[in-house]
Amino acid sequence: MEFPFSINQLFPERVSILDQTLVAGRKTTGAPHLQANIETVIDELGRASAKAQQLPASITSASKLQSQRHQLYLLKDGESNGGRGVVVGFLKVGYKKLFLLDHQGSHVEAEPLCILDFYIAENLQRYGHGRELFDFMLQHKKLEPVLMAYDRPSPKFLSFLAKHYCLTPSVPQANNFVVFEGFFVNRSGSP
Ligand code: ACO
Repeated sequence: MEFPFSINQLFPERVSILDQTLVAGRKTTGAPHLQANIETVIDELGRASAKAQQLPASITSASKLQSQRHQLYLLKDGESNGGRGVVVGFLKVGYKKLFLLDHQGSHVEAEPLCILDFYIAENLQRYGHGRELFDFMLQHKKLEPVLMAYDRPSPKFLSFLAKHYCLTPSVPQANNFVVFEGFFVNRSGSP
């Protein structure tokens, strides 16, 4: 994804972690145009992800990120676009309090880290970028994929999770979230 400004100036690292402040490993205070450009990138990514998932509205935007306690991992390719860099994709995570059905049909209250949005630019899909980004997040959070919940995973994402992490859906839930075989087993004994 190309932009009419330098991606490398906004995001120095290959993977940047953005939170409510929208700061990507650098101080944008005093540089409002940089902050505005970061907002443009997030809004554009959110729109592209919603379109790819055929959602009626974006679930990721700069204003949403500023008002929610989520984290967004942004992957760039710093070499492309004449050295200005391109955005490859993003992954958004956050903790949610969920009531989940276990194998016995009992409601279990949990607050797992959830995958809320995930998108790799159309022309860059199926080159391993999604795996790179997902693995980065897992390492950063020190988590196993089976311990997480997934908000309305798309068919491509379900295929991705089965292929890379051997995850198969567990008990169907009454909400939009999906958890995988092993979620309840691995949680027993956790706080
Ligand atoms: N059709 C089916 N499966 C696909 C496709 C596709 N077009 N693209 C990726 N996958 C799955 C397959 O398992 C594929 O393995 P294969 O090529 O051997 O079949 C595997 O992902 C490839 O892995 P990566 O290259 O690491 O994944 P990629 O960089 O393509 O990123 C992602 C995966 C994020 C799902 C990407 O395909 C994408 O952006 N899709 C559109 C948006 C989307 O559906 N996002 C998930 C939303 S749901 C949520 O966020 C909770």
